[in-house]
Amino acid sequence: MGALRSSLPQALRSRGVSRREFVKFCKLMVATLALPPRYLSAVEKALSQATRPVLVWLEFQDCAGNSESMLRTSSPTVSEFVLELLSWEYHELIMAGAGKQAEDALERVVREHKGQFIAVVEGAIPTADGGVYCTIAGKSALEIARHVCTNSAANIAVGACAWDGGLVRSNPNPTGAVGLQEAVPGLNVINLGGCPHNPTNTAAVLTHYLTFHEMPALDQFNRPLFAYGNIIHDQCERRAHYDAGRFVEEWGDEGHRKGYCLYKMGCKGPEATYNCPVVRWNDGTSWPVKSGHGCIACASHRFWDTKSPFYKRLPSVPGFGVDVDAGKLGLVLTGGVAAALGLHGIASAARAQMRPKGEEPRGPTEIARPSGLVEREGPPEKS
Ligand code: SF4
Ligand code: F3S
Repeated sequence: MGALRSSLPQALRSRGVSRREFVKFCKLMVATLALPPRYLSAVEKALSQATRPVLVWLEFQDCAGNSESMLRTSSPTVSEFVLELLSWEYHELIMAGAGKQAEDALERVVREHKGQFIAVVEGAIPTADGGVYCTIAGKSALEIARHVCTNSAANIAVGACAWDGGLVRSNPNPTGAVGLQEAVPGLNVINLGGCPHNPTNTAAVLTHYLTFHEMPALDQFNRPLFAYGNIIHDQCERRAHYDAGRFVEEWGDEGHRKGYCLYKMGCKGPEATYNCPVVRWNDGTSWPVKSGHGCIACASHRFWDTKSPFYKRLPSVPGFGVDVDAGKLGLVLTGGVAAALGLHGIASAARAQMRPKGEEPRGPTEIARPSGLVEREGPPEKS
């Protein structure tokens, strides 16, 4: 932490990260952002030259799971790149300073980097009784969020709690907890839902921002389409078993051992969107369904209330286990995503607001087709 304003390669070299690992990271980012491979050199160049923007990470009502998720990746670490992509000036969990020294650091960023720094928010914000249920240094989370996030260049809400209130907001919600967007209306917020967020997606959002000077295209919940635009069921490696009617009937049965579909065990994959089947967790090692547990739709809106009980099978999926009806199901869900993408214009407008004034878009433009597919068009790569 501190005023580290060197370039990313300089910072990585000082940590012993090789050029080869840097290129590998850039390739991962291009793949995660679903950019054509020709964008690799643009990403490499942008990250090599960028002076790292200042970042502050605010933590409110949470379990610190999103910080942990980011810090617990293995080597060569995505977290190392995320930590070095930006100049971290404030993060309660990992900063050495505490008390007044820490609070002064936050104030200094707001004062000296007004309109230029990135604010990451983790955790829900209580609004009941004047916000007294979460205070830091005598100020409520609501006060801090209003003060910091209205003075930043961009705000990123990581995890379910910061997006829509998450577990803290689930019924009966005694503290009146809400997500950042609801707590401070009118803010430009990128929501990285999930419980926790996937650090590879967070790194990809930051990479997009540093490369194209704008945030990626968003859906109706202000979530990046590259990460939340596809249904889990359609990306799932167990889908062939679903289509053929082969299901796990009981935990530990033969079907479970053989990797059959987890639909009957309550998997919410047919109703959930996220890229975890592709990006996976623990540096691409696995994801819940691969490890034998159904998806609980942790990246869906208000999932603690809307998707529980987690082990109860979805009640109204038409014709499960029959090839032709599974196809119809896909169409129904794709229609839902297409409807969401119909709001793409609104999201693009929000994205444009985050671009510096007078600057043309530099990144690829995403176009939602009626089929629900998202196609990307963009300016030719400049070398
Ligand atoms: Fe995969 Fe779940 Fe769909 Fe089965 S129901 S194919 S386990 S996402
Ligand atoms: Fe969450 Fe389901 Fe992926 S529970 S991590 S969205 S498989």
